[in-house]
Amino acid sequence: MRKKLIVANWKMYKTPDEARAYIAAFLPLVKEHNRGDIVLCPNFVCIPTVVDALRGSAIGAGGQDLSWEKEGPYTGEVSAHMLRAVGCSHVIIGHSERRQLFGETDDGVNRKVKAALAAGLQPIVCVGEVLAEREAGLTEDVLRRQCGIAFREIGGDDAAPLIMAYEPVWAIGTGKNATPEMAAEAHGVIRAEAAKACGEEVAQNLRILYGGSVKPENAASLMDQSEIDGALVGGASLDPQSFAAIVKY
Ligand code: 13P
Repeated sequence: MRKKLIVANWKMYKTPDEARAYIAAFLPLVKEHNRGDIVLCPNFVCIPTVVDALRGSAIGAGGQDLSWEKEGPYTGEVSAHMLRAVGCSHVIIGHSERRQLFGETDDGVNRKVKAALAAGLQPIVCVGEVLAEREAGLTEDVLRRQCGIAFREIGGDDAAPLIMAYEPVWAIGTGKNATPEMAAEAHGVIRAEAAKACGEEVAQNLRILYGGSVKPENAASLMDQSEIDGALVGGASLDPQSFAAIVKY
């Protein structure tokens, strides 16, 4: 019932020329594919090239972060309205690398989610525990806190475009992935929080992606879980063959 969504997070990789070459190789590989949605999230400078190269395909483009401000003297920032203006449909918010390395807070995530929704972008909001939290039995508490704050002051109807991504931090770029059962359990917690904040209907339609060392070899076993509505892929999305294999798992 919920259509799967596979998102590439290219992180800080690729120049515009490399992005164009990637898409030229990728499009023929997924030409027949219509089972799920696909979105590519390049760095900011590659977005116009990616949008242009994807023209005529059903594949969307998204940013990896945004400012909660519309415009102003905010050096280095990019707004929701600017992402929309260059053709983005989606934006990743609250990725663990932003939380851990660049001081992103739960409160900031909430402000960014509201800015993205107001501008008509679909936010892909990342939540997930670090290893020490999992080992201390705190995974559920962490997810409840991150989701509770991310969903604050977002009304039921306004929340419909929201997408969530469960990315256990210990599984990102490590080659260790959560078992499909662990992921399904975490997704259940996220869905319950969404129901509390935004109502049962939004929660039932909410797509919750899994991210963390998704590879062609493990994609099928993760995607087979009914609670897992897609994947947010880092390293394995950088190569067109390997990302296409994940899309077509
Ligand atoms: P990897 O797929 O490289 O583990 O990265 C996951 C991720 O952070 C996607 O946002």
